[in-house]
Amino acid sequence: MGELQVLISQEQIHDCVREFALSIRKDYGEEPLLLVGVLKGSFHLISDLARELGGETTIDFIQVSSYGHEKSSSGIVQIRKDLDTNIEGKNVLIVEDIVDTGATLSHLRELLATRKPKSLRVVALLSKPQARKMNAAAEYVGFEIPDEFVVGYGLDYAERYRNLPYIAILREG
Ligand code: IMP
Repeated sequence: MGELQVLISQEQIHDCVREFALSIRKDYGEEPLLLVGVLKGSFHLISDLARELGGETTIDFIQVSSYGHEKSSSGIVQIRKDLDTNIEGKNVLIVEDIVDTGATLSHLRELLATRKPKSLRVVALLSKPQARKMNAAAEYVGFEIPDEFVVGYGLDYAERYRNLPYIAILREG
């Protein structure tokens, strides 16, 4: 069993999601938006963000290869579940739980850009700048965190802890 140390509270996450929605609405006005959630880690964020955004907001999901049971990225990114919808001409916002090495994000951006969206931006709740190996930045970032393994609010370790309403550092116990 690991030991959990709260890093970002439920209230902080809630405030952050409201700020995301305000910034996004400031940038896009009332234009329709397509949120693309990166499974599985983004499921809380995309749900909360979609409700804050209101308006004409649609949702789709994509799944890429993940860490599996490892705590570090292999750097190899494969599509496991593609989008159901055509994103051509749409305002697409990729919704990510965390940008770590940046491999997932840089790959996804490249892939989705080939499908000719009207615009393509990224919303990421967390970023670990010290862990970055690829040139990948999100336009909307919630919290920059130290290079520690975190769980909760969608983030897992071996599929556990996704249901925590806050973000915590997981240390070997
Ligand atoms: P990247 O491709 O290295 O940027 O990693 C992105 C993915 O790795 C995220 O979408 C998460 O699923 C996973 N990940 C990265 N860091 C953590 C962490 O600290 N806890 C849990 N999952 C993580």
